[in-house]
Amino acid sequence: MNIHIDEIEKKGFLDIEVEPTLDLFSAINNLKKTKNAIVLAHYYQEPDIQDVADFIGDSLGLAQKAATTNADIIVFAGVHFMAETAKILNPTKKVLLPDLKAGCSLADSAPANIFKAFKEKHPDHLVISYINCTSEIKALSDIICTSSNAEAILNSLPQDQKIIFAPDKNLGGYLNKKTGRKMLLWNGACMVHEIFSLEKIVKLKVRNPKAQLIAHPECEEALLNIADFIGSTTQLLKYSQTNSCNEFIVATETGILHKMQEASPHKTFIPAPPNNSCACNDCPYMKLNTLEKLYICMQHELPEITMDETLRLAAKKPIDRMLEISKAAGLVG
Ligand code: 13P
Ligand code: SF4
Repeated sequence: MNIHIDEIEKKGFLDIEVEPTLDLFSAINNLKKTKNAIVLAHYYQEPDIQDVADFIGDSLGLAQKAATTNADIIVFAGVHFMAETAKILNPTKKVLLPDLKAGCSLADSAPANIFKAFKEKHPDHLVISYINCTSEIKALSDIICTSSNAEAILNSLPQDQKIIFAPDKNLGGYLNKKTGRKMLLWNGACMVHEIFSLEKIVKLKVRNPKAQLIAHPECEEALLNIADFIGSTTQLLKYSQTNSCNEFIVATETGILHKMQEASPHKTFIPAPPNNSCACNDCPYMKLNTLEKLYICMQHELPEITMDETLRLAAKKPIDRMLEISKAAGLVG
């Protein structure tokens, strides 16, 4: 067991050889049954993982599912802050993450000690933190939000309430503009949503005049200004299904195109190009999880998310508030 822990600390996952002929889909499905395990996956996971998952959702949907599941083991095919949220809500369940190094540039942009000092300079401000943050930042927050429910959460507060919004400055700026608030914004951002090339996207729009540009609010303001629709991953997926348009330029991580294309096979989805030589835009953290790592992690029940109980309780309060407000507003992710 110690060998495993050392290896996980170094590599982030158990580097065990898997028989190349093994049918990973049926092996994972068998493990789900024998261990009473549920696989929760984010839309940015690779298509194979989405296909084997029991539930696919955005950050709100995944937190809501984690809060209500009766499985004994939650296997989180997503990134670290998502698995941490599941553990915060399920202290007695085993929460597994296929690769512990699946982090998040946005969560990394808010170190807890620096954020704490910033918060102390503004004692009259309420702290709303985007769920893409560490449990330490959650513990320093009053309410957590996701891109699905941020507006509903703001609408539940008096217009003159002073607010610090962390860590995503793009989502915060978008919300300030939409709600007329003047929230103080932490200077964090997601590397995946900031790398889109406005110039290439404008050219794409010219070449595909019927296509609508749909974008995640983690994108920069200049891109959001020319978007036809802005929303969380679930909202973008729903919009692409219900809108009569047949062509979409999608400005978020490319993993979402799998479900968009599956739900609307007759429509065309073009990934918005990034500011580099790649044609699409993958999150390097999300894509650390693979079907093989998922299988190994379920078989050995490692790597597991663990958490200090005092920290867990402090981080749970603002998540509970988010879940209550979302329920009252009838929001599901
Ligand atoms: P949502 O899934 O809540 O839209 O968030 C997107 C994201 O960047 C997750 O890491
Ligand atoms: Fe973090 Fe951005 Fe990756 Fe989401 S897409 S996990 S916000 S780095």
